[in-house]
Amino acid sequence: MTNYKLWANEMWQKCQPKVTKNAERIGGDYPYTTENGKYKQARHISWWTNSFWCGMLWLMYKETKDERFKAWANEYENQLNTLFESQERLDHDVGFMWLHSSVNNYEITGNETSKNYALLAASTLAARYNIRAGYIRAWNGRDGEDAEMRKGWAIIDCMMNIPLLYWATKQTNDNRFKYIGIAFADKVLENFIRPDGSVCHIVEFNPENGDFVKSYGGQGYCEGSSWSRGQAWAINGFAQSYNEIGDIRYLDAAKRVANYFMNACSEDPVPRCDFRQPVDAVAYDSSAAAIAASGIIDIALACEGAEREMYLASAVRLLKALDERCCPWDDPEDEAIVNFGMEHFNNGQKALIYGDYYFLEAILKLKNLNF
Ligand code: GLY
Repeated sequence: MTNYKLWANEMWQKCQPKVTKNAERIGGDYPYTTENGKYKQARHISWWTNSFWCGMLWLMYKETKDERFKAWANEYENQLNTLFESQERLDHDVGFMWLHSSVNNYEITGNETSKNYALLAASTLAARYNIRAGYIRAWNGRDGEDAEMRKGWAIIDCMMNIPLLYWATKQTNDNRFKYIGIAFADKVLENFIRPDGSVCHIVEFNPENGDFVKSYGGQGYCEGSSWSRGQAWAINGFAQSYNEIGDIRYLDAAKRVANYFMNACSEDPVPRCDFRQPVDAVAYDSSAAAIAASGIIDIALACEGAEREMYLASAVRLLKALDERCCPWDDPEDEAIVNFGMEHFNNGQKALIYGDYYFLEAILKLKNLNF
């Protein structure tokens, strides 16, 4: 088996000083994207991406034991938790937001206050489950018509939020949380994954009976297209569901979407923003590669022998393409680890904090492989 740890260690030697320098400037804030090479904060503390920086601080703390990372992560978490005083903007992304902050804090330091906040977030997520229709409602929408329209919407990204429910069951010994996660994963299996292994971004269900109404292109090119980050969320999310629940259908789903993703990247390992965008569109999403690579490493670890080697090699191919083409290592003033992300089809190339997070996470998974 090829030894990828050496290469991952080289990457870590590049990431460590950069993230440390960034942290000395950013501290416990919540950066989102860069402007002239400097990370700037998201508009509002409730923005779904805010905890990825905190997640990076915890990755750095685990790896270096530098206490400053823990202090900055705590500083951010204290700001985040004020959201429970209003609740108004919270939606299904409480999973992303509290997994990377309070769950990490509790798992690493045993902080009981963090555990309580993470359980509050899990309860908020569980409460979004529509018991008649079998899905977790994604967004609230603005008032009136917009909120009404979104009542039946579920999105593939939510596969990354349900691990908070699995975690809550382990803490409370109460299976209700986990059962909601499983019910949602099963609904996604049936309704989001197409026979060729591609996935939809948004599916609208009838909120009264759970019938499929229609799918939407969401952040991808159009209805029926294949938004690359959505494919990556599916790979990573189903791999996590398999790790937590052990249902082989989830591993098979993760593999099927991963195989589709790798095939779509066979010519160019830096993913297009949408695998079905017009051929002349110049739109890439580096974050999709980082998210997929981290999930594909998990798939590899669930396999053995030649299959494991194939998935590891595929993940490393994606990461190496980011290293060579998207990481501004030569510019010490550019705070991004990975450039060339895209929020949604055709809205401009930019660094995205979650691209950085999953790149660092994937590198550390490889660096710390125990074989
Ligand atoms: N909607 C979450 C994302 O942009 O991936």
